Amino acid sequence: MPHAGDIKTSSGYPEKDANAVTWWQNKTVLITGGLGFIGSNLAIRLVELGAQVTLIDSLIPDYGGNLFNINGLEKAVHVNLSDIRDRFSMEVLLQNKRVIFNLAGQTSHMDSMRDPQTDLAINGAAQLSLLEQCRAVNPTARIVFASTRQIYGRPQYLPVDEDHPVNPVDVNGINKLSAELYHRLYQNVYGLSTRILRLTNTIGPRMRIRDARQTFLGIWICQLLAGEPIDVWGGEQLRDFNDVDDVVDALLIAGQNGQLDPFPYNLGSSETITLLDLARMLVTIYGKGDVNIRSFPADRKKIDIGDYHSSFARYQEATGWQPRRSLAHTLERTLAYYAEHRDHYL
Ligand SMILES: NC(=O)c1ccc[n+]([C@@H]2O[C@H](COP(=O)([O-])OP(=O)(O)OC[C@H]3O[C@@H](n4cnc5c(N)ncnc54)[C@H](O)[C@@H]3O)[C@@H](O)[C@H]2O)c1
Repeated sequence: MPHAGDIKTSSGYPEKDANAVTWWQNKTVLITGGLGFIGSNLAIRLVELGAQVTLIDSLIPDYGGNLFNINGLEKAVHVNLSDIRDRFSMEVLLQNKRVIFNLAGQTSHMDSMRDPQTDLAINGAAQLSLLEQCRAVNPTARIVFASTRQIYGRPQYLPVDEDHPVNPVDVNGINKLSAELYHRLYQNVYGLSTRILRLTNTIGPRMRIRDARQTFLGIWICQLLAGEPIDVWGGEQLRDFNDVDDVVDALLIAGQNGQLDPFPYNLGSSETITLLDLARMLVTIYGKGDVNIRSFPADRKKIDIGDYHSSFARYQEATGWQPRRSLAHTLERTLAYYAEHRDHYL
């Protein structure tokens, strides 16, 4: 659904584009999962752009939400500690928002296998309920949904583009796919303005590092900072990584671009690397440390997707977005962040 003053062409980047800066000024924005890794980085940028930002987060301890993620920003954002499964809270919070970044989710693949019902409740049922309530109380909002590369399962070819068949290998991938389909259905049938980005591995400051629930890179950083060797399972798997700032750019573009087609778009990077080389790169940047190669635990092997990297050509063509931060730069700034703030993440 078009908004007044929408940016109608490939808009480029918010900080370079005067129209985009103006577009976000005083816009009412809701971020579900706003105290999490990506949500908080997005919130910081939106505040800089002059938006009025509300964050919803349940702060369930096993997930990535952390109040320290908005350290210094407390007075600039509204924080509501609610659960997106609570439809009575959501009904109120969804009202009068121009853009809703829908990022709340259970993100651990292993947890989705151990506790599939919770994953279904948050990543499936609550997503449907959010769309139903939007339809009722805020049908003109623009909704940007953070989907995942996990929906593709084991790649049949590389790089994986949006035409690749979807075949999730775990409960999380199935539920995220269902959420994507709900967002598309509500666009097609009810005209809700939904946009879907399929994120690849995203890294940077404010991610969960206490364990490997969000990303294995978190636990690697913990090991490195604690002077322990990094445990790499397998190591030969190929991956691509996006700096969280590049993902924030992509989300902002999806929120502001008035002419974006409703299909799902991959994010991704053409800078691919094996996990072993990634661990070695981390050690080199840190200046010390060791890497241990371990064989894959059987339960993880079953849901591992092997080599993966994305084609982001469709999103690049539609909007001009492309990753601008190198992997080395991202690892460097991420390590620096945790060297300073590790205690808030353990
Ligand atoms: N980080 C990645 O590499 C990556 C990759 C693909 C997709 N994604 C998607 O991006 C989104 C954000 O991921 P993230 O990496 O920032 O993870 P995160 O865990 O840091 O953020 C998710 C946030 O959602 C909150 N949340 C979870 N359940 C909730 C509920 N029921 N009600 C309210 N809040 C709830 C958590 O507390 C957390 O703060 C997720 O939907 C995830 O599936 C992330």
